[in-house]
Amino acid sequence: MREDHEAPRTAETAPARQVPASIIAIDGPVASGKTAVGLKLARQLGYRLVDTGMIYRAITWLALDRGLDIEDEAAVTSLAESDRIALGSLGEGDRTTVSADGRDISDELRSPAVDRSVSYVSRMAGVRRATVELQRAFAREGRIIMLGRDIGSVVLPDAPVKIYLDATPAERARRRYLELSAAGVERPLAEIMSELAQRDEMDRQRHVSPLKPAADAIILDTDGLSLEEVVARVGEIIGIQP
Ligand code: DC
Repeated sequence: MREDHEAPRTAETAPARQVPASIIAIDGPVASGKTAVGLKLARQLGYRLVDTGMIYRAITWLALDRGLDIEDEAAVTSLAESDRIALGSLGEGDRTTVSADGRDISDELRSPAVDRSVSYVSRMAGVRRATVELQRAFAREGRIIMLGRDIGSVVLPDAPVKIYLDATPAERARRRYLELSAAGVERPLAEIMSELAQRDEMDRQRHVSPLKPAADAIILDTDGLSLEEVVARVGEIIGIQP
């Protein structure tokens, strides 16, 4: 493990692997490209993809649906501890799907209402306790790419490959803007930027499992790189032969 005084590892200084790692942790802030990169790599490798943000989003969605006060920690935690939420079948290279009370709610989890409230839910210690074991159980089966904020630092500290994708707030807001426009949702860039800054702040400042690279993560700054370029660099780190 890296000593604190050593420089962080970057994609350029990371040692090359000969065989693809079986468990790959990818962390990073909002709109850093984790999902797009993870999906492409999972398909390339035939690995399963678990986007852990979907778990926090599903709990948020359920809490809003039940009319709970989103800051009521006891009520939201007991929802998280119930067995109402299940991750869908995780096929090779598929998106992570989630169902609540048996109904697939995946398409509802990226709504503005969930976006606005999810940081309140994901900072609750009880909620994180309830979800971390679920995440580890998936990882034990191997051949998996897991996306989140604390996968390398807390959920899977022994993962053989940990990548932290980063980009400036302006670049991430631009990507989110383009993604929304492509989906037919027009929202002012300034509004997206301020929401993103607010969510970043909450993710970084929370007491439990704050967003930060694991000490032994490889940090990849993706500003100025296309999706294909990021996938290629991460692929090299993981051990995919070109
Ligand atoms: O990646 P995302 O935007 O779907 O994440 C939704 C929220 O969940 C966001 O506030 C960060 C939080 N999250 C987390 O705290 N830990 C994770 N492993 C994944 C997501």
